[in-house]
Amino acid sequence: MRTPIIAGNWKMNKTPAEAETFANEIKDALNAIEGVDIAFCPPAIAIPAVAAAVAGTKIGVGAQNMYFEEKGAYTGELAPNMITPFCQYVILGHSERRGYFGETDEGVNKKIKAALAHGLTPIVCVGESLEQNEAGETHAFVSGQVKAAFDGLTAAQMAQCVIAYEPIWAIGTGKSATAEQAGEIIGKTVRGTVVAMFGDETAQAVRIQYGGSANEKNIAEYMKQPDIDGALVGGASLKPVFIELVQNAI
Ligand code: 13P
Repeated sequence: MRTPIIAGNWKMNKTPAEAETFANEIKDALNAIEGVDIAFCPPAIAIPAVAAAVAGTKIGVGAQNMYFEEKGAYTGELAPNMITPFCQYVILGHSERRGYFGETDEGVNKKIKAALAHGLTPIVCVGESLEQNEAGETHAFVSGQVKAAFDGLTAAQMAQCVIAYEPIWAIGTGKSATAEQAGEIIGKTVRGTVVAMFGDETAQAVRIQYGGSANEKNIAEYMKQPDIDGALVGGASLKPVFIELVQNAI
């Protein structure tokens, strides 16, 4: 059985002081919820404060991005060993990184390998645009993203990864995919591609999240889908209602 994982992607919200206050506000209630892994992914500069706030709880901390090189002349980037003292997770290949900052499948693949080499659990985002969805290209596109992202991994490495299927048209729009739609793409396309690459046993170990306007009201429907193992949550992870969301997920 896969343990569900709910991660809050705070994106570019909350200063270090706000992030610390919020983490302290919701951590005890979240820590009391059993049967689910939980992570906060604050802006990079707030990571140390949030990690200190949740120390001693079950709540993990994730970075929203990371570079694949160990050190050097890469202005503005963070190396894996700069985040490992604070983080267990790192979100890689988010559609906002791909769309606004030019991240490529090749770069995401290198970052996944670097994260795994440093003992971090990558939360790897895939998902199609509205145009691709309407053109019936979802399966081919998302399957291609999965193939490119995990190319060259061992089965053991693959089993450690978390994948987040986030249809771009559902992110921050309030227009969530139906549980059936998400369940089918996650099962057939995302997990199906991992089966084709690494075999069924490995694919059954991989946790796959839904992301895109997930909230405390719709989370239970997603979780009923056999292939959905949690959620990567944006807007609804910025407020105390995140506690309710996690409670309703299990
Ligand atoms: P929203 O939950 O705000 O739609 O964001 C989803 C997301 O992009 C999480 O990474």
